[in-house]
Amino acid sequence: MENIKNELVKLLNQALELEHAARIQYLAHAELIKGLNAEKIIERLTEIAADEDKHEKKIRNLIGNYLGGEPSMALAATHRATEMIEILQTNLKDEKDAINFYKKIYKTITENKENLPYEFETLEHEIRHIILDEQEHASELSVLLE
Ligand SMILES: [Fe+2]
Ligand SMILES: [Fe+2]
Repeated sequence: MENIKNELVKLLNQALELEHAARIQYLAHAELIKGLNAEKIIERLTEIAADEDKHEKKIRNLIGNYLGGEPSMALAATHRATEMIEILQTNLKDEKDAINFYKKIYKTITENKENLPYEFETLEHEIRHIILDEQEHASELSVLLE
């Protein structure tokens, strides 16, 4: 039982570091968008950054209060982009990578349901909802690229 909690702390800390990087990347990219449709896209990137901030808070809570771990303060790799299309493409790829990583975490949680009697439903619910948000981000970036 302790093993699965340690494993989840490790995975969720990796996710937390991805969220830190994503938030900072969206905010930095938002400052580089120029041109006729800039306003709308800047607004969207800033809103997505605010969602990533909410994900960070949820994950810190899961790590600290449900799994007995220590939330990471580190940052995963960030990806530079300077032109609007490149920015949208870069973040779309990162959202897809994040979805794949969260699905791995989700699978680990559901496969260990019996070993998480006082945590399972909360973990399952929160990670599932983060996946829904990341899928929304990916779909919004795809639509902006059309
Ligand atoms: Fe996120
Ligand atoms: Fe996202």
